[in-house]
Amino acid sequence: MRDWKRVAGAVLLCGLAAVELRAQGSDAVPDAPPLSLGAAWYPEQWPESRWDADLLLMQRAHVTFVRITEFAWSAMEPSEGRYDLTWVEHAVRAAERHHIQVVLGTPGAAPPAWLTQKYPETLRTMEDGRKDEHGNREQFNFTNAKYRELVGRMTEKMAERFGHDKNVIAWQIDNELAAESFDADTKRQWQDWLKAKYGTLDNLNARWTAAYWSETYSDWRQIPIETKYGNSGLLLNWKQFVTDTYRSYSKLHLEAIRKYAEPRQKITTNMMGWFDGYDHYKVAQDLDFASWDDYVGTGHLDTVRNGMAHDLTRGFLHKNFWVMETQPGSVNWSADNNALDKGEVRAMAWHDVGHGAEAVSYWQWRSALNGQEQYHGVLVGADGTPVPLYPEVAQLGAEFQKAGPALAGTTVESKVAVLQDYDSRWAINWQRHNKAFDPVAELVSYYGPLRGLVRSVDVVADVSPLAPYRLVVAPGLNVLTPAAVKNLEAYVRGGGHLVLGQRSGMKDEDNGLEVQRQPGPLGEMLGGRVEQWYALDKAVPIEGKWGNGMSNLWAEQMSASAKDTEVLMRYGKSNGWLDGQPAAVTRKVGKGRITYIGAGLDETTMAAAAKWMTETSGIDAVWPQVPEGVDVSVRSGGGKTVYILINFAGEAKTVTLPKAMENVLDGTKGASVTLPQYGVAALR
Ligand code: GLA
Ligand code: GLA
Repeated sequence: MRDWKRVAGAVLLCGLAAVELRAQGSDAVPDAPPLSLGAAWYPEQWPESRWDADLLLMQRAHVTFVRITEFAWSAMEPSEGRYDLTWVEHAVRAAERHHIQVVLGTPGAAPPAWLTQKYPETLRTMEDGRKDEHGNREQFNFTNAKYRELVGRMTEKMAERFGHDKNVIAWQIDNELAAESFDADTKRQWQDWLKAKYGTLDNLNARWTAAYWSETYSDWRQIPIETKYGNSGLLLNWKQFVTDTYRSYSKLHLEAIRKYAEPRQKITTNMMGWFDGYDHYKVAQDLDFASWDDYVGTGHLDTVRNGMAHDLTRGFLHKNFWVMETQPGSVNWSADNNALDKGEVRAMAWHDVGHGAEAVSYWQWRSALNGQEQYHGVLVGADGTPVPLYPEVAQLGAEFQKAGPALAGTTVESKVAVLQDYDSRWAINWQRHNKAFDPVAELVSYYGPLRGLVRSVDVVADVSPLAPYRLVVAPGLNVLTPAAVKNLEAYVRGGGHLVLGQRSGMKDEDNGLEVQRQPGPLGEMLGGRVEQWYALDKAVPIEGKWGNGMSNLWAEQMSASAKDTEVLMRYGKSNGWLDGQPAAVTRKVGKGRITYIGAGLDETTMAAAAKWMTETSGIDAVWPQVPEGVDVSVRSGGGKTVYILINFAGEAKTVTLPKAMENVLDGTKGASVTLPQYGVAALR
């Protein structure tokens, strides 16, 4: 009940003040238990007489909330203007009887057949020009005015009915915003968007260097849509336009809900981790809390890449988040759909919590009898009885209840940030130059060893406040906007240590080449620059402060021009151009420091570099004694600190603790803890 009092106070404020309070974003995620266990439930697929049996099984597994209705539009508005929310009301009340709270999904991702038949303009047009059809989902056009009107009205009806419902704690807008439309009307909106941005065609032509290939435009209506190849400024602007479209689409839902709902009902949309279809920082800023759908797909949990996606999501609003969907065992859409091992689902949930999740929700509760996802993992089979995974999730639910109070009010606090920038990821992906150069893999390669040392890392935007951090690492910060430059300069001058990785500072805000060599406007501060970059056909040796290693995929030949710029690493013998040249340089700037790493670092060299980065920045390693394969997370706040240990090694591991500690999961105390494979301890 952490946030209840504050929120109740906010309700009393006059409308305007309450709106401002929300706009600033409170710390609150929904008014739910500190650790919530959820399931995606589709009551519309089952007779009402069955609901209680399902809810009882949920209650026994300590499920604390269900998410419902995100695909139930045809059941909630069976024909135009005829709304039927009575069954939803029944479902909310039935859940309540089992002490299960409800997250309501707005149903825009699956419009009814009558709707797209009557208003065919609401169907999206795919990039190849074909119009989508009814029968799958996400067949609608985000930019279409009629669609927005209809989905807005449906959402208002829901909010009117449930905005004061005490068992409804949150709303999910739509579902995994993702599918753009390429119809003529969207194209017109895009051209108008460009007009609003650039004012004149002369300006647009200049900033896009449109003289190239005779791309000069003399009429806004001549401007095409490109998504993969073509003018780099246009490509970037299209993504920004799409982002604005999703933002306004999501805002129309926010307004429809907030018109009726009490502010204690928090609003989110379920995002998708590394998915880069739009700039998540822009869409997230309007939401009350961030959430994402966390699927492994093929294979097993990659704690580093997945952990970083959690931290990315936490960084959208700089607070704890929800895992709105995750796989109970397996998915149905990957290449081989293997199940997670026994114990791995529980371990994965605790891994979520370690990174700041306050809720973990399984998709889905029970197999739909028909449809596209019959093979997907569930907790209850088509026969209505629990699958073998059910007891593991029930155990997790009991643990969430038990450990909740210890974790209440805690979050992840870090002295290290990794900067993640959508413009830069897009820019590199459009022109990878070396096809294996993956900007996310670059981010993860820095993040992994840093997190291994300090146990908590923030992932934030380049325009985020950076003062809390002693070390800020920016791998592949390819596009530098003036605001980011200002932020990064101020950070270094204020005493911070900024580390730039390969391909940083190459592009300006129009995705045009900087007229200064990399790192562009930050070069003067660095007292050095990139003389030339090379995509590599074979690895190049590197040596220096971080030992001997190999640079793969990409190498930047650096130079140091200032007397006090220190060369940290050099290339060995390779293509002649790189031989003996600087590969990484650093310079003290007042109390701060700026470093540029032009080499791609192999794992061992990266580990040494990470150690150097933290030591140079005055950051101590956290629990360095923990054996390999045991993941450590730290959640703290309100005078509490809880360490979450999970054994992802293939065998049992014993961890020596710095002092005698209590495992809040089982009440045991001791100065060491032994964890079987996938074993978990939450220590204080
Ligand atoms: C072709 C084209 C040039 C240029 C080069 C790049 O030869 O004629 O305009 O695109 O390829 O390799
Ligand atoms: C996505 C969707 C869900 C479901 C799952 C299956 O996350 O949001 O509706 O299709 O995938 O993995």
